[in-house]
Amino acid sequence: MTRYENLPTISGSASSQQLFTDAQTWSAYGAQWNSGEQKNLLCCDVHNETHDVKTFSFRCGDFSALSFEPGQFITVSPVISGQTLSRCYTLSSSPTRPFSFSITVKRVPGGIVSNWLHDNLRAGDSLKASGPAGSFTPVGHPAQKLLYLSAGSGVTPLMSMTRAGFDLAARLDIVFVHSTRTPADIVFHDELTRMQALMPGLRVLNVCEGRGAEADWAGPVGRLDLQLLSESVPDFREREVFTCGPQGYMDAIKAVLAKGAFDFQHYHQESFDIATLNEEPLIEQPPTAEQMETLFSITLSRSGKTFSMPADQTVLWAAKKAGAIVPSSCSQGVCGTCKTALLQGTVEMNHNGGIRQREIDKGLRLLCCSRPTSDLVLDL
Ligand code: FES
Repeated sequence: MTRYENLPTISGSASSQQLFTDAQTWSAYGAQWNSGEQKNLLCCDVHNETHDVKTFSFRCGDFSALSFEPGQFITVSPVISGQTLSRCYTLSSSPTRPFSFSITVKRVPGGIVSNWLHDNLRAGDSLKASGPAGSFTPVGHPAQKLLYLSAGSGVTPLMSMTRAGFDLAARLDIVFVHSTRTPADIVFHDELTRMQALMPGLRVLNVCEGRGAEADWAGPVGRLDLQLLSESVPDFREREVFTCGPQGYMDAIKAVLAKGAFDFQHYHQESFDIATLNEEPLIEQPPTAEQMETLFSITLSRSGKTFSMPADQTVLWAAKKAGAIVPSSCSQGVCGTCKTALLQGTVEMNHNGGIRQREIDKGLRLLCCSRPTSDLVLDL
């Protein structure tokens, strides 16, 4: 395999002629898609990874390069049944290939956006997206010895990190342990196997809960416990650990590492289930009668709507309850989708990296993690 063999192939209604001989390609060369900006994306390819996982490859409609760090995500905003819904998806491609980038999405039972992407998005279609964002990235944690631990769709940020290390010919020592239900659920199996053959410092281990239909599966069967980790990665205590997967998996991994006397200063995990669940925003409980006693008045300057809300609820919750259309995705102050200008008043905001200080200084706030401390006027 050459280092560029797995570039997305072009299929479907957007022909390679249309995509690559457009004169704009070269005239726009050098433009960048940066954090916080919304762009029109063109879907270039849809690829089946497993029976319920697909990779969607894109380029910017204006040929901008996507500037991101491995492990970060973009927020896609398809229009579904007349309503714009925003969801975050981790980039599975490497930032070393900034013009063609991809998200890898698992079909989720009842998942509105993931199922819509699986059933509707085809090569040649356009999609609005904003990004990139996220702090689950090895940049800022330089380490030569790495341990990537993932389960299910949590593989995507770690795949981006591995692809980046591969493309950069970085002299890294990576052990990538991926846990799945059965061998048929392993995402990126062939590519990781080929990369392992070409990258001396990369070792991949797939751990399956069961064999499923593959009775001759020769890899480990069961869950990753301290015994399997110690046997497979005896020097795990010397490694910088990056973990991504469902919350239950990450809790179990933390327990295993704690039992193995791992130093958690070298531990990093995705701060919320962005790569796995990421379907519906968290639902806040309605306010109690006691909370309703302290109410603030909220005015939406563009629509002229006014409503009251208690101090203990988020502005996003109250605005949506009042019928305002506010784009949102993570509901945890990470993705930046709900960023809105606060024109008057004050809020208490507890974000998780979804907004920069210079944006706060300009008066922007993340409504999903902001609670009012006075009456407010919002640019909505
Ligand atoms: Fe993600 Fe508010 S919805 S930061």
